Amino acid sequence: MCGIVGFIGNNDAKKIVLNGLTRLEYRGYDSAGMSLFNNRYQIFDVYKDEGRVAKLVESTKNSSYSNIGIGHTRWATHGKVNKENSHPHYSQSRRFIIVHNGVIENYQQLKDQYLSHSTFISETDTEVIAQLIETFSQTLNVENAIITTLKLLHGSYALLVLDSMDPEKIYAAKYKSPLIVGKGPEGITIASDLMALVGYSDDYHALDDKSFVIATRDDVRVFNLNHELLPLHLKKIEIDNADTEKGEFAHYMLKEIHEQPAVLRRIASNYFDKDKSLIDPQIIQSIKDSDRVYILAAGTSMHAGLIGKQLFEKMASIPVEIHIASEFAYQKPLLSKKPFFILVTQSGETADLRACLVGITEQNYKTLTITNVPTSTLAREATYFLQLFAGPEIAVASTKAYVAQVAVLAILAYELSSKNVNIKYELGIAAAAIDTFLDSQKLIDIVREKLTHRNCFYIGRGLDYFVGLEASLKLKEISYIQTEGFAAGELKHGTIALIEEGTPVIALISDPHISGNTRSNLKEVQARGANTLKIVTEAVQQKNDEIVLPNVHPLLTPLIMVVPTQLIAYYAALERSYDIDKPRNLAKSVTVE
Ligand code: G6P
Repeated sequence: MCGIVGFIGNNDAKKIVLNGLTRLEYRGYDSAGMSLFNNRYQIFDVYKDEGRVAKLVESTKNSSYSNIGIGHTRWATHGKVNKENSHPHYSQSRRFIIVHNGVIENYQQLKDQYLSHSTFISETDTEVIAQLIETFSQTLNVENAIITTLKLLHGSYALLVLDSMDPEKIYAAKYKSPLIVGKGPEGITIASDLMALVGYSDDYHALDDKSFVIATRDDVRVFNLNHELLPLHLKKIEIDNADTEKGEFAHYMLKEIHEQPAVLRRIASNYFDKDKSLIDPQIIQSIKDSDRVYILAAGTSMHAGLIGKQLFEKMASIPVEIHIASEFAYQKPLLSKKPFFILVTQSGETADLRACLVGITEQNYKTLTITNVPTSTLAREATYFLQLFAGPEIAVASTKAYVAQVAVLAILAYELSSKNVNIKYELGIAAAAIDTFLDSQKLIDIVREKLTHRNCFYIGRGLDYFVGLEASLKLKEISYIQTEGFAAGELKHGTIALIEEGTPVIALISDPHISGNTRSNLKEVQARGANTLKIVTEAVQQKNDEIVLPNVHPLLTPLIMVVPTQLIAYYAALERSYDIDKPRNLAKSVTVE
């Protein structure tokens, strides 16, 4: 949540920071700002306003060349969306300029205790940090002033700090919120996400909590909060520049929907050597040694987890509980004697999930993170980690990561089972099935004809019900149509009261054992005026079914059933001319609880 980027070196900091912010904008897009050194007046200029990075590009158009700069794109937590609350913030004398990602929980207390003399411009918790550094710098050197400040902060932070009296350094610090340092031939880039480093750094070091960094043009040193030097663990950046661009597609979301067959094939090839699974046997053993698996996740990842539960139980007869991360973190259920935890997360940074992991780790339970981002906090802090190989997902509404999560959970479930299924082959079949209907014009016409109301329902049974939950989240997230996913049989126990003439009800039907029941439920809503649509597989196809998908393995139907629903959401948002990749009020990576 919020994106931050800083650069110092022998290159144009404005270009690198703006480029980085554009790539990180999916993390928050309420406002954007940056600070660059003005060589003529020997001060740091600050440019910021509410709105998008594109506006910042305009406002910095005439700035002079600077080899040092920091920038920020905001998802508001403390204080309204306005210029004053936008980052960067500065200390009273304007000596220190900072950008911050995270939440300082004790900011009011720090204000009262140390800063009664200071004048504040914004309503943010961040400004307190700048003021504290300035206050302590009156008696301490800058490094100690920053470290003293860091030790007082409760909450989370990824911080970049500039000192007007020394424009040859960027200071940085991290606790709970992600921060990555990149080294390249032309300088040092520091950002909250690897994506911002692509093209400018060859290697990166993912900072640990309570790290303090001093970056100069050609060097970077990392310390702990006792000012002891820490080793750099540099790794190669393996993201391609093309992965960060839209290419021929109008939106990242459409590109990512189209990438799904390739993602499934990539997963199949990365998880298997011929037909032999490459999953660490210790993961399999740890799950087998447990008496219950707990899947924890949020949002779309939670919906993938719901499918995972079905797969584990049906394939491997392993009991699974699934919990929403934000609830589990503070309302722990009664755990079994030997639990094993699986954290499913695209970003690997979701704060609610991190809160869960911290609590679980304290109790010495084993954990597995399934994530798209190998450098992420949750990948690094869990006992084990499995990668999704979906490639960078940039649209805020998750699509290919969901499909990847279901696929990886399926591989795990099959590995745990004694069933004789060639899952690698089945994933290939699913990939080919998706390929066949990605460019269907029919969906555009259906969306125009059916999604004319302010509300909509998805219904289904079994796996289709869980796909319906994800389908409804997708539709509401980007088209703002109030959509609910329902177990088909449950609608009549109350919610059917909402059906009126023309209300869209979309049925997902793929399981031959229960397709008749779902069709009956559809009849019930039709009788009350609903405008219905059926998305089915060939296995259950009947005359007049509008969307028919190829058959795949019965437990892998979510991989294909979800795709037309993603496209329905996409076209519904397109019809309404909404900002598909950056829907209102949302952010891709939610690093605040
Ligand atoms: C945010 C995103 C969702 C995502 C959820 C969980 O709300 O907008 O698309 O599903 O976070 O994120 P994670 O990275 O943990 O999968």
